Amino acid sequence: MSEVTVLGIFVADLSFSANKIPTTGETILGDKYNIGPGGKGCNQAIALARLGCNVNFISKIGNDDYGKLALNSLEQNKIDTSNIIISKEHQTGVAGIHVDRNTGQNAITVIRGAPASFTKDDIDINIIKKSKIFLTQLEIPIEVTLHCLKVAKESGLINILNPAPACKLDKEFFSLSDYFTPNEAEAEFYTGVKIKNENDAKESAKKLLALGLKKVIITLGEKGLFYSDGKEEIYIKALPFKKVEDTTGAGDAFNGGLAYALSKNKSIKECLNIANQVAGLSTLKLGAGNSMPLLTDLK
Ligand code: RIB
Repeated sequence: MSEVTVLGIFVADLSFSANKIPTTGETILGDKYNIGPGGKGCNQAIALARLGCNVNFISKIGNDDYGKLALNSLEQNKIDTSNIIISKEHQTGVAGIHVDRNTGQNAITVIRGAPASFTKDDIDINIIKKSKIFLTQLEIPIEVTLHCLKVAKESGLINILNPAPACKLDKEFFSLSDYFTPNEAEAEFYTGVKIKNENDAKESAKKLLALGLKKVIITLGEKGLFYSDGKEEIYIKALPFKKVEDTTGAGDAFNGGLAYALSKNKSIKECLNIANQVAGLSTLKLGAGNSMPLLTDLK
């Protein structure tokens, strides 16, 4: 039995760090690159495993070199791979990531590969049913995500939906989510509110709750995070790090940290503080999955 089941994609992240992110038609010379595990689901699973959580990851890869990278990375992080489907017809996904080394900001294109072909029949629902928490995002086909959220809810799990990348969602997604964790751009997509400060975050959270959500956490990048369940509101600043190398996967680190803390029955304030720390620590290295901190790195 795993404490947390994560459904999502694995892709090989090809990250390029340079003095800036190139613009259309431009060629620039960069300083370093990294090829490593990525995909929001995989990053979240690694974050959880490195915090000591028992994680089951449901995903799909191809029978190719990047597929081997997936299995090696997951095994090294002690993640149960028995629910990783290896497709003979599809390639493992890849993401091209440009990172601005001065700010750590990025621009990403994801080719999902095998998980784009996920169907409900691919999912062994008994695996989900045996967990305490179900964590997912919006990178696999949406009907499969909805199906799994329903199974998890019917079985009494805590559902965390990280609505990334943002896309139009049916009302059911909101009622099935116990925690909804957009970043500021995704929150703007769902509410139309541009977030520049704490007040905007409050207004955005109010609109999100009006959609039928129970608990909303908006991650605000270097500004921190805002939580609301309609009664309690919590604003926490991001940790001040001197040199942010790469913010890719910081949201995933946050969601992994949140799921970990919830699985340990911590109070909401403790959960948010832990998730905030995990997110901050993940920005200190180039790459996403391999930048997730260990439990011992936390204060
Ligand atoms: O959240 C960051 C992740 O989004 C990257 O690892 C990339 O692969 C994309 O899925």
